[in-house]
Amino acid sequence: MIKKFLNLGMHPIANSFLKKGKKNNFKNEFFYNLSVGFNEKNYLVSLMKPVNPKKQYTDTYAHRASESKTMRKAFQLVAREFQKRFKPNLSMEIGSNDGVFIRNFNKKKIIAVEPCKNLAQITKNKKFKTYSDFWNVKLSKKILKENGKVDLVFSANTISHIPNLKETFDAISIILSENGTMIIEDPYLPTVINSNSYDQFYDEHVYVFSALAVGNIVRQSDLRLYDIEPSNTHGGSMKYFICKINDKRKSSKRLFKYLSKEKKLGLNKIDTYKKFANRVQKSKKDLLNLLKTLKKRNKKIISYGATYKSTTVFNYCKIGTKYLDYVVDTTLNKQGKFTPGQHIPIISPEEGINENVDYAFLGAWNFKKEIIKKEKKFIKNGGKFITHVPSVKVITKY
Ligand code: TYD
Repeated sequence: MIKKFLNLGMHPIANSFLKKGKKNNFKNEFFYNLSVGFNEKNYLVSLMKPVNPKKQYTDTYAHRASESKTMRKAFQLVAREFQKRFKPNLSMEIGSNDGVFIRNFNKKKIIAVEPCKNLAQITKNKKFKTYSDFWNVKLSKKILKENGKVDLVFSANTISHIPNLKETFDAISIILSENGTMIIEDPYLPTVINSNSYDQFYDEHVYVFSALAVGNIVRQSDLRLYDIEPSNTHGGSMKYFICKINDKRKSSKRLFKYLSKEKKLGLNKIDTYKKFANRVQKSKKDLLNLLKTLKKRNKKIISYGATYKSTTVFNYCKIGTKYLDYVVDTTLNKQGKFTPGQHIPIISPEEGINENVDYAFLGAWNFKKEIIKKEKKFIKNGGKFITHVPSVKVITKY
């Protein structure tokens, strides 16, 4: 039933940045096959074999959502808008990370769910009610018993990470009040297809959603997709608005427009995905050719942003220290470590961005604007950025 259309080879856990040392030895690294498939029945695009979440969301989980100014601002705006629009008595966020969204709420009116203990501790310390567990039916029943029903459930870049979608939405059905709203936000499949951003596929992204697929999935848990709204986060995402199946709310015109656009794009046909896979192979060839040409000309190349996405690019294309001297990243707990699989050292931008660097590959291409604005001096000194999205090129216009 699930047809494989893309095989990206063997990959490490995208966020398992490595320390040199005895315990976390490079040799003990865990690898899995990263392949992507299409379900012809419900139009869901997913990894063929998800990794066990316990291997991924550990107590040393590195991603801190509040590190980026763009994200802080985006979450603040969204939080304000939701409170105004839905006037919830009680809200809940699933995958609250370090509290970047919930901090815009009254502490008494929001519940945080975050399985990574290091992150949950941050919101606990700030006195937000935090459940440090994986989201499932058992946890939903526990939260219901202790707090009652929830009017607004928000979950950004989390639901697409959970292998068991049926249980995930069954658990939502249990906790959501009769007129309640759930909003999920995740990278949007048409953007991935159109911009060739195959690096949205990594162990955490078990699914890349479309409206067609989300509509089909939530129906199985007596829920209904009634609206959607595009957003710019993570290089092109979609917010899906979900209510109970018998809720009187009308489905929006915008939803129907996107559903028909998705059909036009062929998201309900395997051929679309096979063509995409061919473009991904070309992207790999083009990137390697560009890096080889620059290396022949003795250029110094680095990467900007130790993203999970770039773990996919580097391991699929086999790009290591032969091409890239190092990766720069502002995240303190990534600095001093090595990228998963290819073991490229990570240092701070202050240390790594200087006149000796000729080219910087945009590992964090989703923050292109923010980075280019920040790195005016690098560009003025002749430094150039490379991107692979939507096609491999050296950026010449700023
Ligand atoms: P993110 O957008 O979360 O991508 P992914 O989900 O693929 O990991 O990661 C962005 C990374 O880029 C994060 O580690 C912080 C880093 N970064 C910088 O180093 N400098 C910057 O100016 C920005 C915006 C991000």
